[in-house]
Amino acid sequence: MTSDNDRRRGLLGRFRRERSAPPSRGRRRLGAAVRMIAALALAGGAYTLFAPGVQAQENPPLTGAAAEGKALFDVSCVTCHGRNAQGVEGRGPSLVGVGAASVEFQVSSGRMPMARQEAQAARKPPVFTDEQTRQLAQYVQELGGGPIVPEGDLQRGADLAVGGELFRINCSQCHAFAGGGGALSSGKYAPSLAPASDRQIYAAMLSGPQNMPVFGDNQLSPEEKADIIAYIQQTLKADQDPGGFNLGRYGPSTEGLAVFFVGIVALVFTTLWIAGKS
Ligand code: HEC
Ligand code: HEC
Repeated sequence: MTSDNDRRRGLLGRFRRERSAPPSRGRRRLGAAVRMIAALALAGGAYTLFAPGVQAQENPPLTGAAAEGKALFDVSCVTCHGRNAQGVEGRGPSLVGVGAASVEFQVSSGRMPMARQEAQAARKPPVFTDEQTRQLAQYVQELGGGPIVPEGDLQRGADLAVGGELFRINCSQCHAFAGGGGALSSGKYAPSLAPASDRQIYAAMLSGPQNMPVFGDNQLSPEEKADIIAYIQQTLKADQDPGGFNLGRYGPSTEGLAVFFVGIVALVFTTLWIAGKS
């Protein structure tokens, strides 16, 4: 026990002796390193304080339209999408990088501002004017960039036959052959395309809302998008059921079933009529 204590004191003593000795080379090096780090930190701090570029990147100056958009955003969207549109856990996603196209689609179709949490934001009459919608879109665009719907005629030079082909390949599995829409899993649905404007169709393809895939310009070129838009607007919407009833537009099976029942009823009445004659 005592020898153990002695040994411990001995160790401590040696340590103390070493500490009071003039600084070793290792300690001098350590001191130099600490001073160096302190100097670097000071220089870095001074740089961030005085360099103009660094602060400008944190808060980029907004153009006039975007500043108007931010004012609207801070009133109507900030509760769910957060300050500077960075998103709020459990309420709304970040909008940094979604682009003007996504905002234009969501706001012009009345989906945003969302009224309450639900499986899917539904189309509603829009809350904002076209002007305000563009301002909101401009704000989000200047925050983080992203896809933009081009200006001008979005059906220019379109080929309806190609549009129909592209629509059947890319869109009909969700929106049905006639664009009437249909149910997807867990309370979600692909809506009817009937109320969509040219710009909304373009924006939907660019932004891929909810379960819809994004059709960027690599998937469908701007010309192919024009073909699809023209097909939806001119062919699908103009197609006012030349045969009379559309039977829910479910295709040949319902039509076949309908013809079958009508035919059976007609046959039964004919047989009854013949039986009554004889
Ligand atoms: C009550 C909450 C709520 C409010 C208010 C709200 N949003 Fe949203 N927003 C959501 C949720 C939740 C989603 C994601 C679900 C969806 O797309 O249906 C979303 C999605 C979006 C998207 C699509 C993002 C993407 O990934 O492409 C945009 C754009 C958007 N909101 C813009 C706005 C704007 C602009 C406003 C204000 C005018 C607004 N929202 C107000 C909850 C809200
Ligand atoms: C995997 C399924 C799916 C495919 C494929 C798909 N969509 Fe969609 N689409 C959706 C869903 C889901 C929504 C609803 C999104 C929402 O409400 O936020 C939607 C919404 C839309 C809307 C908005 C309708 C409105 O209310 O204004 C348009 C326009 C649209 N899609 C066009 C297209 C086009 C054009 C294609 C083909 C290039 C396509 N979609 C392919 C699922 C799909």
